Amino acid sequence: MASYLQIADDEKGHELDLFCVPRHYENDLDKVIIPHGLIMDRTERLARDIIRDMGGHHIVALCVLKGGYKFFADLMDYIKALNQNSDKSVPLTVDFIRVKSYCNDKSTNSVKVIGGDELSNLSGKNVLIVEDIVETGRTMQTLLSLLSECNPKMVKVVSLLVKRTPRSSGYRPDYIGFEVPDAFLVGYALDYNEYFRDLSHICILNDQAKEKYKV
Ligand code: IMP
Ligand code: MG
Repeated sequence: MASYLQIADDEKGHELDLFCVPRHYENDLDKVIIPHGLIMDRTERLARDIIRDMGGHHIVALCVLKGGYKFFADLMDYIKALNQNSDKSVPLTVDFIRVKSYCNDKSTNSVKVIGGDELSNLSGKNVLIVEDIVETGRTMQTLLSLLSECNPKMVKVVSLLVKRTPRSSGYRPDYIGFEVPDAFLVGYALDYNEYFRDLSHICILNDQAKEKYKV
């Protein structure tokens, strides 16, 4: 079982005033729940764990856009640092895929792959899927079944966040950064209808903002 840093349900988080938050979002957020620095520290350790397990061969890191792009970029930087500072190293190449499953703050039943590289390029490769958050698990399970049709040699999944929710299908990624309460989270590339990707910390969205940015 993957280990993770648990953010408790009664976690109070941190006052927004203690951190730098863009002015345009000040009234939309309740609390900072995971500060940017803590995300980076946990990501550094995930990089080490991944290299320990997958470091024998060429790794293709598959970024699930758009929400995964910050985590992906930072994780790749930490893997690169390990590669360039140790005697053993592995080639790392990158691929991108775009999936969409969300409208407002609800996961929809249809998970759509709406662009990115051809999955068939991944045949015979050691693939690391990099995702922002697993909630029901449907997105990842759909992606994994599409990918298995292309016969990759190995597939591992790393997700920065996993939500503790009764809506979970029970799916758990191989590597997990944080397990988080059942709230809608934004920042560090996680969005609400495309907003809040331009926020460094992971924060809880307030109800007023859910109305304000509703589509
Ligand atoms: P799942 O298919 O229900 O596991 O949902 C996974 C996808 O929904 C993630 O890749 C996110 O893009 C999105 N998502 C789920 N929860 C949140 C959240 O709290 N904030 C932002 N996006 C979320
Ligand atoms: Mg995502």
